[in-house]
Amino acid sequence: MTEKITLISGSANQAFAKKVSDALGIPLTPVEVKRFNDGETYAHVLKSVRGHHVFVIHPTSPPVNDTLMELLILVDALKRASAKEITAVIPYFGYGRQDRKATSREPITAKLVASLIERAGVHRIVTFDLHVDQIQGFFDIPVDNLEAMPILARPLAKLKGVTVVTPDAGGAKRARRLAKVLDAPIALIDKRRPMHGIVETVNVIGEVKGRHCVIIDDIVDTGHTMANAARELKRRGAKDIIICATHAVLSAQAKENLADKAIKEVIVSDTIAIPKEKMLPKIKMVSLASFTAELITSIFEGDPMGVIVKGKHEQVSKRGYTEEAP
Ligand code: R5P
Repeated sequence: MTEKITLISGSANQAFAKKVSDALGIPLTPVEVKRFNDGETYAHVLKSVRGHHVFVIHPTSPPVNDTLMELLILVDALKRASAKEITAVIPYFGYGRQDRKATSREPITAKLVASLIERAGVHRIVTFDLHVDQIQGFFDIPVDNLEAMPILARPLAKLKGVTVVTPDAGGAKRARRLAKVLDAPIALIDKRRPMHGIVETVNVIGEVKGRHCVIIDDIVDTGHTMANAARELKRRGAKDIIICATHAVLSAQAKENLADKAIKEVIVSDTIAIPKEKMLPKIKMVSLASFTAELITSIFEGDPMGVIVKGKHEQVSKRGYTEEAP
């Protein structure tokens, strides 16, 4: 008996799920998701999934508590409907930044969320650019944490005289990998947050004067980090500044911060849907949907993923880029 595949979209990013479904040529199975007056979420899968391998496509993006709860409830419905295997495709993993105790009496919410998702009945996770790789270890099920960078880098391939900049020391590995693809040097910004949410640049290490700069990060949230970094690079004589991030969280004053004239272009992926009122003409969205469709095919067929991942990297770089040893 051959296993059947089912695709389900939560409400968090239906446009992304639709693109994945179009790329696979498999229609999304209808679900009814609604909120009761008291704020509780209800989800109902409208077709049988008995014995199927179900892929639930749903980022836990803002409003994070609602989207997370919706994912858990959808998975519970699928488990109770006798789905054989449930893969949660979570393009953006919310709460990923609460990954350790930085001070006494703090939670490790990324671990708590991982436990909740697993306990709900998920067998496997597919995600992009977890805030830190260690989050994979918060799960006791397989986690495929893919890198969006090779796809984000495509619009940058023709730039000359580029320096890749990381806005904080934690992003140095990511910046090195993009620098390798673009054959560019890197610079590092020493960032501090003296007050909650307020970003201060202390120093810039590396040559940025007279260079086009690409600042790369995993998340652009309020945009403070990026705007602050861009202004500092301009002050130090950088030419055009392009910012590049996998996840466009875009909360609070993000639109105003990204509108800063120090930033020429903003390249983000479509892991999170950007509402119209937060869009700016300089925001360019690249899609991870067809890549995700390939990943889903590999998982369903039981094929190794390295082939797709390596293939994408090679296709992007055309410079003989190979995976860096960990
Ligand atoms: C932090 O470690 C992350 O990598 C991002 O730099 C951060 O989340 C960006 O936040 P914001 O846009 O609010 O400055």
